[in-house]
Amino acid sequence: MTAIPQPTLSPDATPARLVRPPPAPPLAMLAELTHRCPLSCPYCSNPLELAARDSELTTAEWAEVFRQAVALGVLQLHISGGEPASRSDLVAIVAAAREAGLYTNLITSGIGLTGVRLDELDAAGLDHVQLSLQGVNAGVADFVGGYRGGFDRKMQVAAEIARIGLPLTLNAVMHRHNLGDLAQTIALAHQLGARRIEIACVQFQGWALKNRAALQPTREQVDEAKRVVAQARRDYAGKLAIDFVPPDYFADFPKACMNGWGSTGLNVTPDGTVLPCHAAATIPGLSFDNVRTTPLARIWNEGAAFNAFRGTDFLPEPCQSCERRDIDYGGCRCQAMAIAGDARATDPVCRRSPHRARLDAIIAAESSAPPPDFVYRRMGRG
Ligand code: SF4
Ligand code: FES
Repeated sequence: MTAIPQPTLSPDATPARLVRPPPAPPLAMLAELTHRCPLSCPYCSNPLELAARDSELTTAEWAEVFRQAVALGVLQLHISGGEPASRSDLVAIVAAAREAGLYTNLITSGIGLTGVRLDELDAAGLDHVQLSLQGVNAGVADFVGGYRGGFDRKMQVAAEIARIGLPLTLNAVMHRHNLGDLAQTIALAHQLGARRIEIACVQFQGWALKNRAALQPTREQVDEAKRVVAQARRDYAGKLAIDFVPPDYFADFPKACMNGWGSTGLNVTPDGTVLPCHAAATIPGLSFDNVRTTPLARIWNEGAAFNAFRGTDFLPEPCQSCERRDIDYGGCRCQAMAIAGDARATDPVCRRSPHRARLDAIIAAESSAPPPDFVYRRMGRG
C-alpha cells in the first residue's frame, strides 16, 4: 500500500505555513527544438507568435536541459517543433538525449530527413519516429501542409525508416478536409510498415484555433469516423495498433488534458521557456520560467505557472461535487480560457458546464457553413 504524502513543515514554519509535498516527477518532456518548419499546416498547435531562429537554445543548452530532466525523473523525450529536422544539429541533440539516458521519440513531417541523416540518427540511438501525415495523396496532403512535393518526400522518408527498421508511428491529424479518407489513411499506415497509427482529430489550440471554422468536421463525419475506426480495429487486429482521439467538441465529457496540469509532462519551447502544456501561454496572467535562468527542477516543483492549476482545488462547481473530478480534472484549462474566457472554468466540452451551449452554437455554425480558406501557419502571420 502506498502512503499518501502529507504536508510537511518547513524549518521556520509556523502551523499556518504548511509546505506542500513536492509534486511527483514528470514522466515525459516535449522539446520543441525550433518553430521553423517547411510546412505551413493550418492545424498546427504552435503559438501564433512563433519563436525566431536566433532565440533558439543551442546544442549545449539542450544537452544541459536533458541532464536536468533525467535528474528530475523524466523518462521519455518527445523531440518536436516546428520541424525538428530544420535544426542542423538534430543528430547531436538526439545523441545528447540518449547520453543523458532518455528514451527518444522524433516527431517529424519527414521534410529535411534523408536516408543518410536517418542512418546518423539511428546510430545516435534514436528510439522511435512519429511521422505526420496530412493526407493520403499529394493532392490533399500538399494542400493541407501548404508544401508542394511534401507528400512524395514523406513517402521516401517512410521507405528509409522501414529500411533501417526504426519503430514507426504514423500521426494523422484529421479534420473536415481529410476525415473522408480515414479508411485509406489507416491502410496507408499499414502499407508503410507502421506499428501504430495515431488518428488525432484536430484539437483547437494555436493555429488550429485560428483555423477552427475551416477545420471543423460535421457530426456525420465524426459518426462515420467512429464506425471506420471500429471496423479497422477488427481488420488490423495484431497487425496495426490504432489510437483514436475523437474531436472533443463532439464529446459529452472533456479529456484529462495533460493528464492533469503539472502532473506528468512539461514542454520546453525553442527559446527555453518551460510550459505546463503547449498552449499555456494563451492564458493571461501566468508567468513562465526559462531554463536559461532557472533550474528545471525548481520550475517543475515551485514554478508559478505549474502550480496555478495543479490538483483540483481551484475547480468550481459543478466539478467540485462531480464523480469525474479525479478522472478528467475538469478538462483543459486552455480550452476553458478560449471558450469561456476563464482558465479556471469547467471545460466547456462538458455537458454539465454552463458554457456548453456556446460550444454547441460554434459547432452548429461552423460545421454547417462552407469552410473558409486556410490561414497557413507562417512566421509573423499570427
Ligand atoms: Fe469533468 Fe467537471 Fe464535467 Fe465533472 S463537471 S465531468 S469533473 S468537467
Ligand atoms: Fe493547455 Fe489543455 S492545452 S491545458
